[in-house]
Amino acid sequence: ANAQDNKFKIGLILPMTGQSASTGRQIEAAARLYMAQNGDTVAGKKVELIVKDDTGLPDVTKRLAQELIVNDKVNVIAGFGITPAALAAAPLATQSKTPQVVMAAATSSITEASPYIVRSSFTLPQVSVVMGDWAPKNGVKSVVTLVTDYGPGNDAEKFFSERFQLNGGKVIEKLRVPLRNPDFAPFLQKVRDAKPDALFVFVPSGAGAAVMKQFLERGMDKAGIKMIATGDVTDDDQLNDMGDGALGVVTSHHYSAAHPSALNKKFVEAFQKANPKMRPNFMAVGGYDGMRVIYEALKTTKGQGGGEALLAAMKGQVFESPRGQVLIDAQTRDIVQDVYLRKVEKKDGQLYNVEFDVLKGVKDPGKAK
Ligand code: DHB
Repeated sequence: ANAQDNKFKIGLILPMTGQSASTGRQIEAAARLYMAQNGDTVAGKKVELIVKDDTGLPDVTKRLAQELIVNDKVNVIAGFGITPAALAAAPLATQSKTPQVVMAAATSSITEASPYIVRSSFTLPQVSVVMGDWAPKNGVKSVVTLVTDYGPGNDAEKFFSERFQLNGGKVIEKLRVPLRNPDFAPFLQKVRDAKPDALFVFVPSGAGAAVMKQFLERGMDKAGIKMIATGDVTDDDQLNDMGDGALGVVTSHHYSAAHPSALNKKFVEAFQKANPKMRPNFMAVGGYDGMRVIYEALKTTKGQGGGEALLAAMKGQVFESPRGQVLIDAQTRDIVQDVYLRKVEKKDGQLYNVEFDVLKGVKDPGKAK
């Protein structure tokens, strides 16, 4: 056998520059940590990670996926920082029968774009319905929603609003900001004028600090408008720099760096030891668990590594993640996981999303229909 036969290649396509660069940085760091902890030889194969920067532009994602599959002959493509990137690669995964492990992007419909897609991140419907149940039971009777205008934002708006209204809440207005270079100021002025009990927010990872800053600068909290959000807003990558104005913000999400399990403590410690300036966020966990899904599939297939066999071995995996117990649903290829309610609190002088309630084993509600 030549050296090529002895290799197992993972093409990791991430936004390493541009608006979503923190997603790329977090996932690459987590993938490298997983390999450092678990070795780079699996079932007799030498695992090689090839990292490519798509800058968050789907045309670039598509070209890189094509090159990785055709020229580098990768066994798996993985990463995908934003929904348009995951969707751009999907037809290539299907044509070439290459498993595509989506570690970040979170629009519900992504897994339906190719039978070769497996997801280790989350879906916006999954976390948004949990907030739609919590808010009306906790004094929030009216909201304005503010989401980034693309797949995950539209999912968050729809699934939060439907559940909130089902529970008797009133949605006064639905606002959408553009994905590229958003200016939140004019939207927040509208929210002030509408005077809801709360503003429900989804913005993608990396944009949370800007929303929080403008929310506080405009004195929204002092005007009696609470912020509630998906955990993308109080992102562990940025939270500690948001300042005490973020204290008390309640969010729903699948991962907090403060998740109090032994496994998570080990994960956070090892991650920070290898990356002293970073705190792992939900993107890091998506990358870490995605590597686990790939490694275990390679073990199950005894290093044979064909696309169909790998895919079959990815489906149905059950394991303990730093976020809690997870399952890769064999039918949908999407992740089933616990969703937490968390409140921003100070612990040892640092801001964290502290979990105070949990919904166990939440499937993506976007697949129910
Ligand atoms: C997506 C990107 C994010 O940064 C995030 O926090 C959630 C979803 C996406 O594009 O799917």
